[in-house]
Amino acid sequence: MGIIVENNIFTLHTNNSSYQMKVDDKGSLIHTYYGKRTDETDYSYLIALADRGFSGNVPQAQDERTYSLDFMPQEFPVWGSGDYRVNCLQTDLGSGVNDCLLVFDSYKTYTGKYALQALPAMFASEHDKVETLEITLKDYHEAFYVHLLYGVFEDYDVITRAVVLENKTDQNIILSRIMSACLELNTSDWDMIHFYGRHAEERETERVPLFHGITELKSTRGTSSHQHNPFVILAEKNANEDMGECYGFSLLYSGGFHMQAEVDQTCQARLVMGIDDSDFSWELPSGACFTAPEVCMSYSALGLSKLSHNYHNAFLNHLIRSKWKDKQRPVLVNNWEATYFDFNAGKLLKIAEEASALGLDMLVLDDGWFGKRDSDYSGLGDWVVNEEKLGCSLKQLVDEVNGMGLMFGIWFEPEMISEDSDLYRAHPDWAMIVPGREPIRGRSQLVLDMTREDVQEYVKERLFAIMDSANIQYMKWDMNRSIAAAYSAKLSGKRQGEVRHRYILGLYHVLEALLQRYPDLLLEGCSGGGGRFDAGMLYYSPQIWCSDNTDAVERLRIQYGTSFAYPMSTVSAHVSVCPNHQNGRVTPFKTRGICAMQGTFGYELDLSKMTDEEKDMVRKQVQTFKQHYRLFQFGDYYRLTSPVDNHDYTAWEYANKNGEEACLSVVFTDLHGNPVPQIVKWKGLLANREYKVLRDMEPVGKYTGTALMQGGILLPIPKENYDSCQFYACVEE
Ligand code: GLA
Repeated sequence: MGIIVENNIFTLHTNNSSYQMKVDDKGSLIHTYYGKRTDETDYSYLIALADRGFSGNVPQAQDERTYSLDFMPQEFPVWGSGDYRVNCLQTDLGSGVNDCLLVFDSYKTYTGKYALQALPAMFASEHDKVETLEITLKDYHEAFYVHLLYGVFEDYDVITRAVVLENKTDQNIILSRIMSACLELNTSDWDMIHFYGRHAEERETERVPLFHGITELKSTRGTSSHQHNPFVILAEKNANEDMGECYGFSLLYSGGFHMQAEVDQTCQARLVMGIDDSDFSWELPSGACFTAPEVCMSYSALGLSKLSHNYHNAFLNHLIRSKWKDKQRPVLVNNWEATYFDFNAGKLLKIAEEASALGLDMLVLDDGWFGKRDSDYSGLGDWVVNEEKLGCSLKQLVDEVNGMGLMFGIWFEPEMISEDSDLYRAHPDWAMIVPGREPIRGRSQLVLDMTREDVQEYVKERLFAIMDSANIQYMKWDMNRSIAAAYSAKLSGKRQGEVRHRYILGLYHVLEALLQRYPDLLLEGCSGGGGRFDAGMLYYSPQIWCSDNTDAVERLRIQYGTSFAYPMSTVSAHVSVCPNHQNGRVTPFKTRGICAMQGTFGYELDLSKMTDEEKDMVRKQVQTFKQHYRLFQFGDYYRLTSPVDNHDYTAWEYANKNGEEACLSVVFTDLHGNPVPQIVKWKGLLANREYKVLRDMEPVGKYTGTALMQGGILLPIPKENYDSCQFYACVEE
């Protein structure tokens, strides 16, 4: 039983964690526990009531000055209730001011997992040990209801939360802030681990202590963004990969988001997470509901690796829907860094010919195949094949590529419009431009108003037409700018605060329609690389282009940060040429291969312009990846060193779930005149079994699992800058 309800106490159990809340004698839903698995003890005994002065008392408390929401741990704190900390809800229920006070109304439980209207959400089948709890709160005065949804994934140590607001008053309600989840901890001594960055430098890892006041992360860009990721960890001070308590929070949403963590006057910590509220307002008509996106929470008492495994397993089994999550991913070659806009069918076919000869599986045609698109100044929106440029029809090209034994994939940027496009000339009002003002451009392009049904229909019609015209098995869905002024000609002036969220709903609607129509399509997400690498997108795309930065060494940090929440099979990574196009660095070809094998593997260079030696290496890399794809795609991923802390080398490992096989990769990031011996310890092996160990395909010896995990393995001395090696260990039959 994942959910136990007794005496107004709700205890949610997963295999290794418990979460508890309680309706107290004032009708407030208070939070009492989240941590290591426990019993059903009523943990409210840990709440110290006191008259703290200047803390408001709710009407139900009458003269009881020791009862204030200002220090009570709550499930869903709201603005206007005498609680002055960060909150989950600001709403005007008709008085003209944001003023709300929630009390318990009812609850229900059922087996299975709730779904959310028009938003991504984790799912479960009837065979899974998953239960739902729905608790309904009501405003103390008005018929305004808040439904708190909890999904308990017992076997994954994951609890999801979402919120549905329901207006049963007879007037419109205005929402100005709605967070999806709140977590209260009765101590303040926590580090926050978060993932910041910029274009081509996504998901850098930073660990900072919480302090008295508010630590805040947000994206105001209309996308989850390169700058901050909607995933955050609270960790005990001494928590590391293998020990210590930590909590993860992942928002399943691809638009702007807001996360705040506050340490309050009584040294408690509160974390809230939800939609970006900087420019948000929502008119909720009488009788209507508003659904806030889901947060996936997880707890680990055993450090960060366990926390990541919880997320990886839960996302792979209960978030990613694509058939491709279980299928061997095609090793692809993408023509972007090979040709940029300068290509025709001849050039592409030469790359395809080599790809086929070297054992690759797919050619992906990137930007520039449509409309008038020979640079990034024009053409977006005109999704009509430029046959003149290609020199043939798309079908002819695809047929030829298929004839070589390769699949075919294609790039789109469906949410965008160039001013120099037929689409813009026909429908200027489809672009988000504030009337009477000059638009803010990004990459010289404008954003389509995805809130509009006519725009959604146009995008679908174009995508479907291209998809139907040839045998296309993969699509890279790109989005190459942040949203500045979000304006829709379809909404009245006072409702423009709805545009950003409606945009995301429009995007999800089109993605859903695409996947319903082409259920076998391998969809790869992208936003100038990893600007929209979030759990919301994983509901639609089983892999996401991780960064426009293809330098193997910088990718070590980017992929390291990404690995905390997201399964490595979702991390799209390619071998590119040197000097690297983003930073000019030169790295060995072998290292580029090893780094790209950390994720879903491919190439992004002109295969027809390689030396024979390089071609030979491609052949071997493709072979290695295919031989071990099960490990890379389904194995447990271990971060063995941190590229942020260890400047000599970065190491990571995949071990299959039964521990019988593992692959350990190392990239040396510094050289020394008189290097000290370096030893790396394996993880996830079987202590009592003997393993045959290979290094770069050559045998190095036989060791027990205990020896490899407790003693480790000696690394070779690097012979050149950014040298690397790959170990493979397998149980001897
Ligand atoms: C974005 C993507 C790249 C490439 C270009 C094409 O930057 O991240 O991989 O597709 O757009 O314009």
